[in-house]
Amino acid sequence: MSSGRTVVVGITGGIAAYKAVNIVRAFVLRGDSVHVVATPAALRFVGRPTLEAISRNPVHTDLYEGVAEVRHVAIGQSADLIVVAPATANTIAKLACGLADDLLGNTILASTAPLVIAPAMHTEMWNNAATRANVATLRERGVVVVGPGTGRLTGADSGAGRMEEPDTIVAAALAALAVADRGGAAGDLAGKRIVISAGGTREPLDPVRFLGNRSSGKQGVALAEAAVARGAEVVLVAANLEVPAPTNVDVRLAGSAADLERAMTEAAAEADVIIMAAAVADYRPAEVRADKIKKDDTGDTLVLTLVRNPDILAGLAAARKPGQVVIGFAAETEADPELLLQLGREKAARKGCDYLVLNMVGWTEGFASERNEVRVLNRHGDIVIEASGSKMSVAESILDLLS
Ligand code: PMT
Repeated sequence: MSSGRTVVVGITGGIAAYKAVNIVRAFVLRGDSVHVVATPAALRFVGRPTLEAISRNPVHTDLYEGVAEVRHVAIGQSADLIVVAPATANTIAKLACGLADDLLGNTILASTAPLVIAPAMHTEMWNNAATRANVATLRERGVVVVGPGTGRLTGADSGAGRMEEPDTIVAAALAALAVADRGGAAGDLAGKRIVISAGGTREPLDPVRFLGNRSSGKQGVALAEAAVARGAEVVLVAANLEVPAPTNVDVRLAGSAADLERAMTEAAAEADVIIMAAAVADYRPAEVRADKIKKDDTGDTLVLTLVRNPDILAGLAAARKPGQVVIGFAAETEADPELLLQLGREKAARKGCDYLVLNMVGWTEGFASERNEVRVLNRHGDIVIEASGSKMSVAESILDLLS
């Protein structure tokens, strides 16, 4: 997926407008040129200076500003992608009717770019027959509708109508952009079922404590997002993610290594490709205490007995079906590149997978960071890919192996 695109973020008048700032920021961080078109009502919820500082561009609201440059159509014509978040019931109704009584309506009508909307409103408004019909009309026209989610709304009420989280909206928008880039054609992974594990397992000690690791799930989630954008059907086995899972994948939650093994083994039966990006605990406490371990009972030191967890990756590789591709990761703290490579080769041989993605990890590298640097080894230990950059760009390089 290329960066440096022209993205129009339309913001309309709902309380969720404050979250749109994070959407604008996510596109800016990707290197996109972001232009905010806000309705006057949106600016009652979030300030113009905030949006201008974050987008690094002027914010446009008025149909009668910039008339000499024909701004009412110019913004839409230059857009590669339009995201409207939040999209109120009123805006959705206007879009369904093709109304152009404000700058956002004109921008959208003048554009051929993919349009992604993130509805946000109270449950009654979302369930109203008029809104449902308007949303159905927009979907029929190819508009991508993200959410809404269910949860706490502005007042004391809860239910459907909450705007999806910014990361989810951005992921769906990028997927729509990828489809548009392919001219609507199926992606290179269309028809492939890919099972990806992400995050870090937690091995319970007692009802309130666990042994865990610092995996955020970013690398695995990036793989899932990239695979979906390329047309794959994705199962994401999610172990304690610190980032939102994409909406357009089948998410199966796993807490401990044992949960992850069950979920992976079940999903693997239907998979063309298995990718183990999760950080799995090699050991778990021999005993899980029914009650909280108390200092009074243990004294100044506490000795834990740990037992080995099964090697899930090695098990999946040994049991793989003909034609199934198994990709593992290796997280190593060795700083010397040659010794690191040697460790990767030994791990590739031990695990028996088709490819092993070798990344160096440390206090600031690999785990929880935004970037990654990998060398991918084949089963013979040869380097087949070297990639560095955002976890999304590393994910794309890993998936290139499959296409
Ligand atoms: O989630 P992020 O914050 O984005 O960080 C990404 C990452 C650093 C966690 C990721 O890129 C990564 O390296 N994941 C694998 C972490 C790991 O457990 O590495 P390992 O070298 O200990 O294990 C090797 C492989 O065996 C891994 O594919 C692992 O999933 C698997 N494994 C490990 C132990 C075990 N009992 N069963 C396994 O299947």
